[in-house]
This record gives sequence, structure tokens and C-alpha cells, in this order.
Amino acid sequence: MSYSEMVMDHFSNPRNMGEISNPSGVGTVGNAQCGDIMRIYLEIDDDIITDVKFKTFGCAAAVATSSMATELVKGKSIYEAVKITNKAVCEALDGLPPVKVHCSLLAEEAIHAALWDYAQKHSIEIAGLKQPKSDIHEDEEEEKY
Ligand code: FES
Repeated sequence: MSYSEMVMDHFSNPRNMGEISNPSGVGTVGNAQCGDIMRIYLEIDDDIITDVKFKTFGCAAAVATSSMATELVKGKSIYEAVKITNKAVCEALDGLPPVKVHCSLLAEEAIHAALWDYAQKHSIEIAGLKQPKSDIHEDEEEEKY
């Protein structure tokens, strides 16, 4: 299995790693199968994501996708951010090995969970945003042997 240079770069020098105290929204998701956990903090001003940080306890692909996902949502409105899919994150990283694509789902879902938290606090609806799952493993396709 080999990672793209972009993945290695974001794994070795993650962008936006850390936390925000009193964030506008925070979301944590995990994957019970591998045990990895990702938390995303958002600072939102006038519906624009002005700052974003992440904490990830996970594999190299999970760290790289967290880093890239934070870069992609920074400066976007909450309505644009909700449309950023794990596919977009993978593409921005020049791809992930097939067995690692599921790791990028954590990034998409953690962003959604943080947006959901913000929407709940402000009693607003963000089109296309559904209540996130805390465990993305339930969403993964079962592998059959
Ligand atoms: Fe769990 Fe990558 S193996 S997120």
C-alpha cells in the first residue's frame, strides 16, 4: 500500500491541528471497527467558518484527511462546507489506497457533526445536513467473505 505525496505531506505536517476553546460548533465521530476517533472544532462568524481545528486519534489516512478537510472548509460558509464530501477530500489528497477510503468518511462526518452542533445551538437548518452518526462504522458497507 502506498500513499500519495500529498497524503504523506498532510500526515507529516498536519494543518490546523489543535483545539478551539468555546468553539461555535464541535463534532466527534469514531469508527468502532478500527477504534479511530476524530474531533473537529469550528469557529463561525456570520455563517462563515473563520477558524477550524482538529484532533485525531487515528491512522495516517485519518490524520491526512482531517488536515485536508479543515483546509477545504476554512473560509467557506456553513452552507458550502456541508457539501464537501469525503470524495472531495480524497481527490484533494491525490487519492487514498482503496482500503483507506473509509478513513476519509470520518472527516466528512466530523465536519457534519460540528455543523450540526452549531445548527442546534442557533436553531437553524442547514440544507442537506442530517443528524450525524457518532460511529461511521454503521454506514460502511459490510465486507463479505
Ligand atoms: Fe481507522 Fe483509518 S483505519 S480511520
